[in-house]
Order: sequence, then C-alpha cells, then structure tokens
Amino acid sequence: MYLETPRLVIRSFAISDIPQYAKIVSDPRVTRDLADGLPHRYKEAENYIRDCMRRDEATGVARYAVVRKSEGDLIGFCGFKELDDYIDFGWRYAQHAWSQGYGTEAALAVLDYGVRALRLRNITVTTFTANVASLRIIRKLGFSRALEGEHHGRRTVRYDQQEPPNNALQRTRQRRRAVERGR
Ligand SMILES: CC(C)(COP(=O)(O)OP(=O)(O)OC[C@H]1O[C@@H](n2cnc3c(N)ncnc32)[C@H](O)[C@@H]1OP(=O)(O)O)[C@@H](O)C(=O)NCCC(=O)NCCS
Repeated sequence: MYLETPRLVIRSFAISDIPQYAKIVSDPRVTRDLADGLPHRYKEAENYIRDCMRRDEATGVARYAVVRKSEGDLIGFCGFKELDDYIDFGWRYAQHAWSQGYGTEAALAVLDYGVRALRLRNITVTTFTANVASLRIIRKLGFSRALEGEHHGRRTVRYDQQEPPNNALQRTRQRRRAVERGR
C-alpha cells in the first residue's frame, strides 16, 4: 500500500519501522488514551507492527505507516483493523507531531483509500470521550455517533461510517424495480 497526501507518505509497515514505532509508543502521553493507558514495551510494539504487516500481506486491510515528507521520519500510523463484525479505523502519532493537522490529513486520505480501493464497509472508530483531538477528526470524517460504552473504567464512544448516499439510493431503486417486477 502506498499513497501520498500533500505532506505525508502513507505506506505499508516494514520491519525497519519497529525501533521508531517502539519509541513513539514508549511515551505515556501517546498511550494515555489507548486501552489501559500504559506505555508499550519494545516487544509489544514489535508484535504490533508484525501483526500489521501480516494483515497487510493477507488482505491489505491494515494499519499503515505515516511518514512526513519533509523529514522522512515515521510519525505513527493510520489505518484499519478487521474485527469480527466491523472494521476498526484508528490512528496514533508521536507527541511531537500532534496539532499540526497530520492526524486529519492522514485519516481523510486513508478513509478514502479504504472505501474506494479496498471497498470497505462497516468502518467504525472508537475513542475515549476525553480524546478531544480524535473526536474532532471523527467529526470531519462524517461518521455518526452509534454507541456509548466503557473501557478500563473510562467512557468510550463508537462512531460508524455513514453509508454513501449513492448506495442507499441504488438499493431503493433496486427494491422498487423488484416490487414492480413482482406485480
Ligand atoms: C489523537 C491524535 C491522533 C490527533 O492527531 P493530530 O495530528 O494532533 O490531529 P490534528 O492536528 O489533525 O488535529 C485534529 C483536531 O484536534 C485538535 N487538537 C489537536 N490536539 C489537541 C489537543 N491536545 N487537545 C484538543 N484538541 C486538539 C486540533 O486543533 C484539530 O481540531 P480542528 O481541526 O477542529 O481545529 C493524536 O493526538 C494522537 O496520536 N494521540 C495519541 C494516540 C491516540 O489517542 N489515538 C487515538 C485513539 S482513538
């Protein structure tokens, strides 16, 4: 997988990304709003990237590396994870790269790639309600609020991808044609 935005290269992960990714997630500020909130150890980070690569090779549905064009450095990931009945969409960046619009830039491009190239449906994003920056990104994706929950004693909210209006229209037309044929 490879795509470019004005400031970013978004591509498949490689083994050589592991040390930089491990550095990013060793920072408690980065992991504060993830799962149990604890920083990740090197081995955990390595397993995560290896899992991303396995998924990418198997189906193409994966978290992807996000690299700054200006510096050529890995700043984090954006992408998908196939779960039992939906596709989780997520992102994670080094603290020094926050608040510069990279999160939004990558999310919009990767969502477009997922929908058009991978033809994904049932994409969802789950975040802690305290994660204001993620909520702001989600708002720009046009997802709709679906489900509230709790994880490790903190409030979460899940947002679902809205069906593209064309699909809804297409199905209404198909239904109408089927009814007409049945008359
Ligand atoms: C959440 C995260 C991905 C946001 O990435 P980012 O590159 O900073 O996002 P952007 O710069 O595109 O900013 C998105 C919006 O959030 C706002 N924002 C950014 N950092 C913020 C902060 N610390 N507090 C409040 N708002 C913030 C921006 O102003 C922007 O809002 P706007 O477009 O309405 O002006 C990043 O903070 C991160 O990696 N956090 C750690 C991992 C994480 O929490 N992942 C998500 C789990 S659901």
